Formats: sequence, C-alpha cells, structure tokens
Amino acid sequence: MQSMTERETPSVDGLVIAILGGTGDQGRGLARRFALAGHQVLIGSRSAERAQSAAAELGHGVRGLANADAAREAGVVIAAVPWEGHGELLSALAGELAGKIVVDCVNPMGFDKQGAYPLPVAEGGPAEGSAAQQAAALLPGSRVVAAFHHVSAVLLLDPEVDTMDLDVLVLGDDRDATELVQALAGRIPGVRGIYAGRLRNCGQIEALTANLVSINRRYKAHAGLRITDI
Ligand SMILES: NC(=O)c1ccc[n+]([C@@H]2O[C@H](COP(=O)([O-])OP(=O)(O)OC[C@H]3O[C@@H](n4cnc5c(N)ncnc54)[C@H](OP(=O)(O)O)[C@@H]3O)[C@@H](O)[C@H]2O)c1
Repeated sequence: MQSMTERETPSVDGLVIAILGGTGDQGRGLARRFALAGHQVLIGSRSAERAQSAAAELGHGVRGLANADAAREAGVVIAAVPWEGHGELLSALAGELAGKIVVDCVNPMGFDKQGAYPLPVAEGGPAEGSAAQQAAALLPGSRVVAAFHHVSAVLLLDPEVDTMDLDVLVLGDDRDATELVQALAGRIPGVRGIYAGRLRNCGQIEALTANLVSINRRYKAHAGLRITDI
C-alpha cells in the first residue's frame, strides 16, 4: 500500500477557485479562507450583481460573477448551493464544468420539529445515494470530489477564528483529484484533508451532518470531526 508520505502532496499554488452559490454563508466562508490563503477566488451567483456585492463585502481580492462565468474561469469549482437547486444548476453548467474538478459540499437535509434529518437521494444505486453521486451522474466530463460537508460556515466567516479545529473528509473516485482537494483543505489553518473513500460512500458523510446539527443545538457549538491515528 502506498502511504500519503510516499506520494507527493500536489501543489495548489496559483489555483483559481470558483464557488457556485458563493453568495451564501458556506460559499462566502470558503471564499474568505481561500482568498486569505492567497488564491484567486471567484464567487458565483444566479445574479452577477449579487455576486459582485458579496465579493466587495468580503474583500481580499474576491471577485463576483454569474455562476457560468465563474465556472469557466476557474480550475476548481465548488458547488455550495442548497440541495433543492443542486441538480438543476449543475446540469445547466455541465459544459462549463467539463474538464474541471467539481467539489461538492451539499448536504441534502430536511428539518422538522425533531431537528435535522437526511433526505433520501435517488442517485447512487441500491446503497444510500448522495448529492455528490448526483453531481457525478450529471457531470460525466468533470472530476467530482466531495468535501467540506462538516465545516461550519459561522467559523469560516468569523474574523476572530484564525485556525479551525477539524478534519475535512474528502471522497472521490479520482486519486489525483481527491489529493488536490485534500491539499486545498489544508490551506485553511488547522484543517487536514483526509481521504475518506469513493463517492459511493458519500451518502453517510452527507447524512452525518444532521447528527452534527443535533450536537450543535444541544451543546451550542460549531462541532467538527477529527480522525484519530492519522
Ligand atoms: N452553511 C453551512 O454551515 C454549511 C456547511 C457545510 C455544507 N453546507 C452546504 O453548502 C450549501 C450551501 O449552504 P448555505 O448555507 O450557504 O446555503 P444558502 O445560503 O441557502 O445558499 C447558498 C446560495 O445558493 C444560491 N441558491 C439558492 N437557491 C438556489 C437554487 N434553487 N438554485 C441555484 N442557486 C441557488 C443563492 O445564491 P444566489 O441567489 O446569489 O444565486 C444562495 O446565496 C448547502 O448545500 C449546504 O448543505 C453548508
């Protein structure tokens, strides 16, 4: 077996990152952290004006564009839209996203009186499906990687938080792409990107977010995960 130390960590220097739905909390939070790490970051939106004003508010050289233009200009594109809009947006951008690494952080989740619960996803076969598998099905020309499901947008956006205490689980079927996204996660101070399996194992990663929401509510926290012995 080849360990991570035997393979070189890919360089992410100079990587241009676009974030679809980048006007939301998660998108702005990731944009802020990657811009602080020295990346050129493009926030995408269904409205270029909304993207420009969110980008201006963030500063750090972040630019705002329509989703399609942001996707076109970037090497890595993060999808940070609500589950409800996920399939429609990705199918519309399949052309722009071809040949790119698409990072999916979407958690299909519902809320009722008992709190958060994972929504069933059709894509993915007999086992649990996932948003990431839906992305892979809709984007045959892209390299889909799943990551950043358990990162708190509140902490990403908090100027008082210099370093974040969590591991980002990274899943995918393309080793070079997952390793690049692991390295990208590592650009956020305190964060490690840990490979956590193929896309077919992403359903439970997305579903686990409902448990984290329950933890956060009970303990008034922004809980993250750490993997031991690595
Ligand atoms: N918030 C968190 O802490 C967190 C953590 C981990 C993962 N996530 C995941 O990240 C994703 C985004 O979370 P969020 O809290 O940032 O969500 P959000 O604020 O509700 O949505 C993000 C952006 O998506 C765009 N959008 C909304 N509905 C859309 C639709 N039907 N089609 C296309 N675009 C749409 C909106 O931008 P425009 O109107 O400008 O287009 C919105 O600002 C979710 O899937 C969530 O599960 C969130």
